Amino acid sequence: MAKFKKVVKKKKAAVIESTAQEDEAVKKRSSSKNFRLLKGFKDILPTEKKYWNLVETKAANLAVGFDYGEIKLPVLEETALFSRSVGKDSDIVRKEMFTFTDQSNINVSLRPEATAQIARAYIEHGMLNLSQPVKLYYFGPMFRREKPQSGRLRQFYQFGFESLGSEGAVVDAQLIALANKFFSQIGLKDAVTIQVNSIGCTECRTEYKQELINYFKPKKKLLCDDCKKRLLKNPLRILDCKEAGCQSLLAEAPQLLDWIDEDCKEHFMKVLEHLDQLEIAYNLNPYLVRGLDYYTRTVFEIWPIDKTGSQVALGGGGRYDNLVELLGGRPTPAAGFSAGVERIIMLLKEKNIEIKQENIPEVFLAQIGAQAKAKAMKLLEKLQEEDIMVAESFAKDSLKSQLELANKRNVKFTLILGQKEVLDGTILLREMEGGVQEVIDLEKIIPELKKKLGRT
Ligand code: HAM
Repeated sequence: MAKFKKVVKKKKAAVIESTAQEDEAVKKRSSSKNFRLLKGFKDILPTEKKYWNLVETKAANLAVGFDYGEIKLPVLEETALFSRSVGKDSDIVRKEMFTFTDQSNINVSLRPEATAQIARAYIEHGMLNLSQPVKLYYFGPMFRREKPQSGRLRQFYQFGFESLGSEGAVVDAQLIALANKFFSQIGLKDAVTIQVNSIGCTECRTEYKQELINYFKPKKKLLCDDCKKRLLKNPLRILDCKEAGCQSLLAEAPQLLDWIDEDCKEHFMKVLEHLDQLEIAYNLNPYLVRGLDYYTRTVFEIWPIDKTGSQVALGGGGRYDNLVELLGGRPTPAAGFSAGVERIIMLLKEKNIEIKQENIPEVFLAQIGAQAKAKAMKLLEKLQEEDIMVAESFAKDSLKSQLELANKRNVKFTLILGQKEVLDGTILLREMEGGVQEVIDLEKIIPELKKKLGRT
């Protein structure tokens, strides 16, 4: 008993010590002069907006085109939702979730992905009573406490498409077609490849897993530390390990496609036939297994064409026929796909894809003097009411610096309102390219400007 008390005391002391250390670290950070972003988190600045607009607009338009309804899901869920769906032995659940116990003693996590939530929402809102398949689209932040590096963030954005309620191979093919269309439409058609595989159903995988264990066991010494652990818990993941030692063993390893049953094989052949009919190029990749446990049958990923070693996928998905049932719903076959926005934007930049800047101001409104400033503020409202895109810098007083800004913003026209114009009831209209200036009656400036902008 005394010994037990000693151990408990020691443990308590260790917890107190580690909490004190954390408190100290937080205090140190908070008392430092400048706050900084947490590791793996990112601010998205206005200069990035055109890329975000492009990705979100194209994805949202495809959702409309392919008849997916948008769903907005919370960022916080019960931890068990993810451990049961994604798998308690997966990297995501083992080491990457931001998890805490809330004030009601519920164990919650920031969502690392949305497919589990989609299945939860499908069951919770009785969507099986709707016409099937139910097709849902989402866009939002996900959280994974990965080691931060290029393209690997702790908060990143995904958009995704999920189709629940049909086992047809045509659904898998359409999802791949949708992904293919998205990358074509943003100008990355030649910069990506589609990798496809089938991992069969739970039954055919059980035998295959044993076969894999039999193959790798005598070579265990050659596997990396992670794969040594995977050998018993999740041998399939050895197939997509990026370590050279593990990769060198793959050529001789038993192939999944030789082990999947006739039904799964037939399903996969149909998916490929549809892709051929749609003339979508793909790479049959026997080592593609995906890192989340819920997949069955078809799996696919979109890779940058020059993906090497540990470089990362832009998007991924597949079929998850057992997930809804696993979470307590009726058996509901389903498939989906999601893509990482930051990784897509990185590739857009790398490939110098030109993006049309939207919402560029057409006019700059400059003012000199207090009276003119007050009048200009009123005029700004009128211009905005007429949907004329206006830039201004009322905080500046010098005309020179205002004109410099107008040049920088690349506007076609600048309106200049000074003391004299206020008294005369006029305004100057300057055409920026030629530098020609006209005096216009202030009352007539809006129709005059609209004419010049070709908006009569
Ligand atoms: P996933 O492959 O884990 O699949 O993630 C999809 C995409 O999210 C990745 O291809 C990548 O672009 C992006 N991503 C993942 N982790 C990070 C990170 N740490 N930093 C930046 N981007 C990242 C899923 O999440 C599944 N829910 C996909 C799915 C939908 N399967 C069926 N339906």
